[in-house]
Amino acid sequence: MVAEIAPSTATASGQGGGQSPSAAELAYLDGHRVGRLATVDGQGAPSVVPICFTRIDLAGEPVIVSALDDKPKRVDGRELARVRNIERNPTVTLLVDDYVEEWAGLSWVRVRGAARLIEPGESGHTDAVAALREKYAQYRAMPIEERPVVAIGDLRASSWSGSGARSDGGEHPLPRPGVEELEATIAGRRSVRAFDPRPVPRPLVEAAIAAAGWAPSPHGRQPWRFAVVETADRRASLAEAMAATWREQLDLDGQDAATVAHRLGRSRERLTTAPLLIVPCLYLEDLDVYPDLARQEAERTMAIQSLGAAVQNLLLSLYASGLDAGWMCAPLFCPDVVRRSLGLAEALDPHALIAVGFAAKDPVRRPRLPLDDLIVGWE
Ligand SMILES: Cc1cc2nc3c(=O)[nH]c(=O)nc-3n(C[C@H](O)[C@H](O)[C@H](O)COP(=O)(O)O)c2cc1C
Repeated sequence: MVAEIAPSTATASGQGGGQSPSAAELAYLDGHRVGRLATVDGQGAPSVVPICFTRIDLAGEPVIVSALDDKPKRVDGRELARVRNIERNPTVTLLVDDYVEEWAGLSWVRVRGAARLIEPGESGHTDAVAALREKYAQYRAMPIEERPVVAIGDLRASSWSGSGARSDGGEHPLPRPGVEELEATIAGRRSVRAFDPRPVPRPLVEAAIAAAGWAPSPHGRQPWRFAVVETADRRASLAEAMAATWREQLDLDGQDAATVAHRLGRSRERLTTAPLLIVPCLYLEDLDVYPDLARQEAERTMAIQSLGAAVQNLLLSLYASGLDAGWMCAPLFCPDVVRRSLGLAEALDPHALIAVGFAAKDPVRRPRLPLDDLIVGWE
């Protein structure tokens, strides 16, 4: 089966022992969140475990580091098979790969190296802990600084891609990581409007806001900020503050009293039952200022476009981490009320309200236009 996966046109760099990892191979490793670490025991029997890892530079050389963390384990960190094996035989292999049904998108990078433990206080330990916490928000809440980290140095890399990608700077770059997961995340994300009461883990919200921060933005100035509203009191007072505007607007629409009461109740319920709300705000202070209205308007439009991109990153990150979210536009219609209720600075313009939590039930998805309807020209 494996032989069938690898088309004969495949390109692998550094067959056998491999060579120092190329920039493309290092970028591929950096872009992946899990790898399979192979070690061997005293009898030569292999052991393979999935690991979270990142990369640091030690004395100018790339070193892969992995924490002995708090994930539930059957034995204490130092008794782990991988640690005992490394202590006996430091030669290890880390395999990082992508599977997609379209086999041209298959790829892997394999690094062999010499593993050792870096103890707290030893050179590289602080850098390793900081880099692991940067990549995995979950580690920020775990005392990994009190434990050794596994460090793999003297790296020798090989790589392969179904599209004939080359890791040596050839014509085709290695594919970007996680194509399969990305497509599933994009198509899987849905607007959820009813949540169960389980609280939302803070590191996942922080990771989602960090993901928002990677959105494209005009001049790279990131014209958006995010206010998180979590306590029940604050969510209730925000709903209360917004209710007056909702009532006025529904009255203006000529809705009858019963409909107004019903819709108000539903909106209030959405804010008070979602365990956490995120309020994305437009923040124009760092943008360019123009003497003419047309360019100023364009600058503002760019910022709003960018806010949309940032919110999409946020939604995808939340969904990828097992949460769900629902976008509400209500603050657009009463920005002053929201600003006052949350005590936000004048320069922050609340543009939306993202309700976050665990879905109470699967929502009905709206169908999408066929691809042909989306493409209006291709010459
Ligand atoms: C700018 C914007 C504002 C939205 N405002 C609301 C809203 O106020 N209330 C709501 O229930 N959904 C709102 N939505 C969510 C859309 O209704 C939803 O994305 C759409 O129906 C497609 O469904 P899906 O997100 O599940 O794919 C908003 C979406 C966007 C992009």
